[in-house]
Amino acid sequence: MSLFRKKDLGQLLAQANDNEKGLKRTLGAGNLIALGIGAIIGAGLFVRTAAAAGQNAGPAVTMSFIIAAIGCAFAGLCYAEFAAMIPISGSAYAYSYVTMGEMIAWVIGWALIMEYALGAATVSIAWSEYLNKLLGGAIPYEWCHSPFESYTDSAGVNYKGIFNAPALIILLALTLLLIKGTQESAFVNAIIVFIKVAIVLLFIALGWQFIDPANHTPYMIPEGTKPVIDAAGKELANYDGFFKHGLGGVLGGAAIVFFAFIGFDAVSTAAQEAKNPKRDMPIGILGSLVVCTILYILFGHVLTGIANWSEFVDPEKGREASVAYAISTYMTGYGWLATAVTVAILAGFSSVILVMLMGQSRIFYTMSNDGLIPKAFGELHPKFKTPYKANWILFVFVGLFAALVPGHVAGDLTSFGTLFAFVLVSLGVMILRKRSPEMHRPFRTPLVPLVPILGAVICLGMIAAIDIRTLQFAMIWMILGLLVYFGYSRKRSKLHAPGEILPKASDFQ
Ligand code: ALA
Repeated sequence: MSLFRKKDLGQLLAQANDNEKGLKRTLGAGNLIALGIGAIIGAGLFVRTAAAAGQNAGPAVTMSFIIAAIGCAFAGLCYAEFAAMIPISGSAYAYSYVTMGEMIAWVIGWALIMEYALGAATVSIAWSEYLNKLLGGAIPYEWCHSPFESYTDSAGVNYKGIFNAPALIILLALTLLLIKGTQESAFVNAIIVFIKVAIVLLFIALGWQFIDPANHTPYMIPEGTKPVIDAAGKELANYDGFFKHGLGGVLGGAAIVFFAFIGFDAVSTAAQEAKNPKRDMPIGILGSLVVCTILYILFGHVLTGIANWSEFVDPEKGREASVAYAISTYMTGYGWLATAVTVAILAGFSSVILVMLMGQSRIFYTMSNDGLIPKAFGELHPKFKTPYKANWILFVFVGLFAALVPGHVAGDLTSFGTLFAFVLVSLGVMILRKRSPEMHRPFRTPLVPLVPILGAVICLGMIAAIDIRTLQFAMIWMILGLLVYFGYSRKRSKLHAPGEILPKASDFQ
């Protein structure tokens, strides 16, 4: 049945090894770990840690990090098996093409646009906000907000957004860098990673002496904690539901900080540019996950030790710029660290955007080589050997989104696309183990089928926890994707034999 036609694995591997025509293999294990850390440490750590502590987990946000990390580790082990075995640039999309067939692969490729392209747009909007913060609000409101946003100050003056220029500028700069070369991009990413990891370590080391053990007691938000109301009577947080206090709150916190781990899978999109993917892909994927998990736990411990979790509820105070708030309020003499943290956050956001854009262009590249999207997406620059047309098209798409759409685009949509991919990759490992047990697997996911099943179940659980509006939007996006598939991609697929009569969508109802 043509909807489930699969790519031949041997052919795929030959395609990946065609160095003459394909992407250049320039990345080593160190580059790959740095790419992972580049995509992982960002808004999730610097913004969502405080939100999860203040609204769900309290100081036990450290446990939330451990739970989210365990969920990611299951999926990460499955990614590692595939990325070492099928080292081509399409990540979950490519793996599904081999294991579950073309239509599922298309669906997952379409969902990955939500993870990478929307993720890049959302983080570039956050980048613009932080830049303005660093500049003391010097950028006029009109030029750093979308036309759908407005604001009235205390003097009654109304401001209306026109265009989010900083978001567009950072996207343009990173697109140019990506076109220039993968190695150059990896180099800049490595510098940024060095800066942000150094600042995180500095915060942990210097902040440790300012931990007040009283802030860690009790460790979880106690049952019966009163809601927090602001001066105008608006409820800022309440601790009534299952996911709002105690152990349940730790789980609720895990769903929030999951965002902080998104990105380790981006390493797998660079598989076709890895020098020794069989060895280095698992190192890159799992290594970046381990490093970030350790940093996150320590960071959460220090942050909730310096300031009390209850201070992270007020968005005006400690929630949005939580780290800078904790430093300037409690770490006397370390004002410079608050500024350094803001700079590190800007740098951190840049590398998240960079790797997300890179990942998306690589997925487009592979989908285009398969004939499912127009050829332009797969054309490499004659000199730089990067998919420059895909990069430009992506810049226009993500740029329009970032410049014109409000900043409160849910990170949940990014989480949805990611979790969906995790589920299919976990299932894919089991399917391929059954179908092709003889294949050489340089890295084997341990305890199959237990690990993939747990990975899929945990990720499905997290999808269920996403709010209903986000899920509705995601459904609309997926339906749009199916229309494109049936209207365009199916007959242009390279797997489509000339003269083959394709079944209609209605044949499957
Ligand atoms: N993990 C990335 C971040 O936290 C998406 O910004």
